[in-house]
Amino acid sequence: MTQAGPVRPDPPRRIVLGVGGGIAAYKVCEVLRRLTEAGHRVQVVPTEAALRFVGSATWEALSGLPVHHGVFDDVPEVPHVRLGQTADLVLVAPATADLLARAAHGRADDLLCATLLTARCPILLVPAMHTEMWEHPATVHNVEVLRSRKTVVAQPASGRLTGADSGAGRLPEAAEIVELATLLLRRADALPRDLAGRQVVISTGGTQEPLDPVRYLGNRSSGRQGYALARVAAQRGAQVTLIAAHTADLLDPAGVEVIRVSSAGEMREAVLKAAPQAEVVVMAAAVADFRPADPRPSKIKKVGSDPDPVSLVVNPDILVELVRGRPQGQVVVGFAAETGDSHGDVLTHGRVKLARKSCDLLVVNAVGRGGAFEVDHNTGWLLSDDGVETELPEGPKSLLASYVWDAVSARLGPGS
Ligand code: CTP
Repeated sequence: MTQAGPVRPDPPRRIVLGVGGGIAAYKVCEVLRRLTEAGHRVQVVPTEAALRFVGSATWEALSGLPVHHGVFDDVPEVPHVRLGQTADLVLVAPATADLLARAAHGRADDLLCATLLTARCPILLVPAMHTEMWEHPATVHNVEVLRSRKTVVAQPASGRLTGADSGAGRLPEAAEIVELATLLLRRADALPRDLAGRQVVISTGGTQEPLDPVRYLGNRSSGRQGYALARVAAQRGAQVTLIAAHTADLLDPAGVEVIRVSSAGEMREAVLKAAPQAEVVVMAAAVADFRPADPRPSKIKKVGSDPDPVSLVVNPDILVELVRGRPQGQVVVGFAAETGDSHGDVLTHGRVKLARKSCDLLVVNAVGRGGAFEVDHNTGWLLSDDGVETELPEGPKSLLASYVWDAVSARLGPGS
C-alpha cells in the first residue's frame, strides 16, 4: 500500500490577505472573519483603491493588526520583504483586472504587488470583475502567464454582478474562498490546471424513494464530498456537470453546472444522459439500492388501517451500467461507504466492491464513529483496478478530492 503525498501540519498559519480595488472588497470582510475564527494570523494588505471601498479601520478591527498599503509605510520593518517571506499563503480577493495585470508583469508599485514578488508560499488570486474585462484577451493572457508560474488563479463564479448585469466574473462566496485557501494550506500543489478543458460528470447526494407523496426511503448522505470534488475539478480547469440528489444546504461551486434530481430513477436518467460526452464520471452519490414497489398516489393514513409491510424492488446499479457502456478512454470512479462486519473490515469490503463494479478507481470511506456522512472531514483509501492502494490523509473533503483528481489525471494522460 502506498501513502499519499506529505501534507502540511494543521492551523494556525500566517496568511497575507491582499484586497484589490473592486466593490467585491466588502465580501472579503467575511473571508477575513472566517480565517481569523479558524485561528489564522491574517495580515491584510489592501491596495490604495481597495481602501475606497472598505477602510483601514474595518480591516484592522477584524484582523487585530495594523494595515499598510504603500511601500514607504513602516519602512524600518521592510514589510514587503518580511510579509512575503514569512507567509504560509498569500490570498488576494478580489483580484481585479488591474491587479492581475500588475501581478503578471511583476510590478512592485505598492505593498501588495511587492509582497507577491517576495512570497515563496502558495499564492491564490480570486478574480472579480465584469464579464467583458474577464474575457478580454489581455486579462486571459495575464491569467495564463500567472498560471504558468504556478500562481493559482481561481475560476470566478457566474451570476449577478454590480448593477443589473450578470455573467462570469463574480467573486465566489466567502465560504468557497476559505475552502480553497484551507486546501492550499494543507496541500500547496492541490490545484494544478491538469484538468483544463476536460468534461467531467459527478453525481452526489442521497436519493429519495417515495412511499407516498409525503414519505420516502432515504439515507444520510450530505453530498459534501461530491460538491468538494466538483469544486476542486472546476478549479483544476474541468467543465463540470454536478448531478445532485438530496444534499445539505450547500453552495453551488463556482463555474459548475448543477442538475437536481430526487430518486434513483431520475439520477440514473440524468447520469446516463450526461456520461457519453464525459471523459470522467465520478459516482459519489448514495443511490438507494431498493425502492418501494408500489408508491401510493395519496398519503397513507394511520387511522383505520393496519400498517402494510412495504415491499421493495431493486434499483438498477448505475455505476455498473456506466462501466459496461462507457466510451473508450473514459475514467469511471466509484465510492464505497463501508462499516465493516463479520465478513471483513472496511478495506476488504472495498476490494470486493471494486472487483464487482469493475470501475477504474474506488474511494473507500469508513462510516460510523463520526466518519464520512454529514461532516466536513473525510479519510479513506483509494483503490485502483491495477492493485495500487493509497491511504488518504484525514482532512477536509476538498483534500480527499484533490488526491482523487491526481489519480484520475494520471489515467487521462496529457490533454489534447
Ligand atoms: N451505485 C450506483 N447505483 C446503485 C447503487 C450504487 O451507481 N443503485 C454506486 C454508488 O454511487 C457508488 C457505488 O455504486 O459509487 C457503491 O455504492 P454502494 O451503495 O456502496 O454499493 P452497493 O453496490 O449498493 O453495495 P452495498 O450497499 O451492498 O454495500
